[in-house]
This record gives sequence, C-alpha cells and structure tokens, in this order.
Amino acid sequence: MEDLLKRLKSCSRCVILTGAGVSSESGVATFRGKEGLWGKFRPEELATMDAFMANSSIVWEWYNWRREVLNKVEPNPGHYAMCEMEKLFDHFCLITQNVDSLHQAAGSTNVLELHGNILRNKCADCFTPFLDEGDIDPDSIPSCSKCGGKIRPDVVWFGEMLDEKIINKAFEESERADLFFSIGTSAVVHPAASLPIVAKRHGALLVEINMEPTPITEMADFCFKIPSGEFLPELVSSLKAEQSA
Ligand code: OAD
Ligand code: ZN
Repeated sequence: MEDLLKRLKSCSRCVILTGAGVSSESGVATFRGKEGLWGKFRPEELATMDAFMANSSIVWEWYNWRREVLNKVEPNPGHYAMCEMEKLFDHFCLITQNVDSLHQAAGSTNVLELHGNILRNKCADCFTPFLDEGDIDPDSIPSCSKCGGKIRPDVVWFGEMLDEKIINKAFEESERADLFFSIGTSAVVHPAASLPIVAKRHGALLVEINMEPTPITEMADFCFKIPSGEFLPELVSSLKAEQSA
C-alpha cells in the first residue's frame, strides 16, 4: 500500500473497471468460479437472443429472479469507496460490466455501463427503451408500443454488440488514464477485458484488485489479493489523509 500511495501522487486521471466481484460482498453471485451463475445455469439457454426467441418465458423467469435478488441487496463498502474516489482525482471515470445499479445506489455518477442494466427493459426488435412495465409476467410478456416486438431486459447478451457510444468512450478514457484499476473482474470477457491492456499500453499505472490471478495479473504494476470491500475503504482513507496533510 505504501508503494502504491507513493505512485498515486503523480496520477490525475483515474479510471476504474469493475466486474461482478465488487458486488459479491453485497451478496450478488459472480458469473465464474464454484458458486458462479455460469456454473449453475447455461448462458446459451438464458443470455442469448436465440434463447429469448426460443423460450422467452424461461428467460424472463430467470431475469425476474435476478431482479428479486437485487431488490434485497445494498452497496458494500467497496462501492461507497469508489464513489468517494470520484472526488480524489482531477479526472475520474467508472466503467462497469455490472448490470446491478449498485454503483449508482452508492452515489457514483457518470457510470459507463458496458453490459446494460438489468433493471431497464427494451424492445427486442427496435430497441426502444421501456421503463414502466412494472413486473414482467413471463407468461404474458408485454410488447413494444411502436413495433409490437417483445420486451426484453436491457442487458448485453452473448453474441451482441455493446452500445457503440459507451464502449468508444470507455476506450477513450482508458487510453487517456494515467491510473487504471481493474477490480473484481476475471478479465476474460472482451471488449471490456481489453481496457486495462489498452490503458497499460498507453502508459497508465495498472492496479488489480482480485483474490485470484487473471490474464492481466502479470502485466499489472500492483496486485492486491484482498476483497475490494476491504481494500478500497482503506485506500480511500489513506488518500484522504495524504491530501489533507
Ligand atoms: P466473473 O464472475 O467472471 O469474475 C468475478 C471476479 O471477481 C473473479 O475473478 C473473482 O476472483 C473476483 N472476486 C470475487 N469476489 C471478489 C471481491 N470481494 N473482491 C475482489 N474480487 C473479487 O465476473 P466478470 O468479470 O464481471 O457478461 O464477468 C464479465 C462478464 O461475464 C459479465 O459482465 C457477464 C458475464 O458473462 C454479460 O452478461 C454480457
Ligand atoms: Zn419495438
């Protein structure tokens, strides 16, 4: 930590990329690993457009269940610490692969949501956003008022492109960062997993927070094998103490 704090003194453009691991201390399941969602469910049956066309009720049942889980959870100290980090650097950008809104619930603003947001809906055909459908009945899925297409969750499924504006902005921010944190992500899903690599190639200090090694561990300048909800509040209080000294 001491070494990291010394290096952070010269950093002014901080970018953070988060993954499912930052929400695990809130009680939200990650995707990979023993207890991960993809160990229990088959993504090709639940998180693709083909699956939705073949059996939209099952897909909606699964998303309703995930929404119920999210209704009961709260941000953890890691989320709150990342919100505070926003104020500790001249420039700050938070990029997340998470669809759970916990960063926003903790108070973070300007979150780049690469994989959408599970609490929003959109039309499966014309992509018009829909927000006010209430609970979706899997046996009677509402249809789009513009084109009649079925309403689906506004998340990125396997095989789908990310929102071009959001991913372009994420690359731009990563290229310009002088400090890049990769936190709680297995760093295997692209294009998100390319962001730390791009940042490092453009000269950023790369810091990883993850209890397990990932494909970017070797190129990182610092790796902390500490849960983000423990590490980040400590980092924030050290940074604050330095700034007020
Ligand atoms: P993963 O489930 O692949 O990885 C979670 C990572 O968090 C693992 O590397 C864990 O070691 C780490 N981890 C767990 N608890 C942690 C903690 N308390 N502190 C720090 N690290 C912790 O989740 P993602 O990398 O987010 O995509 O997965 C990427 C994408 O794959 C997801 O956005 C989702 C999934 O398929 C879509 O749905 C499009
Ligand atoms: Zn439509």
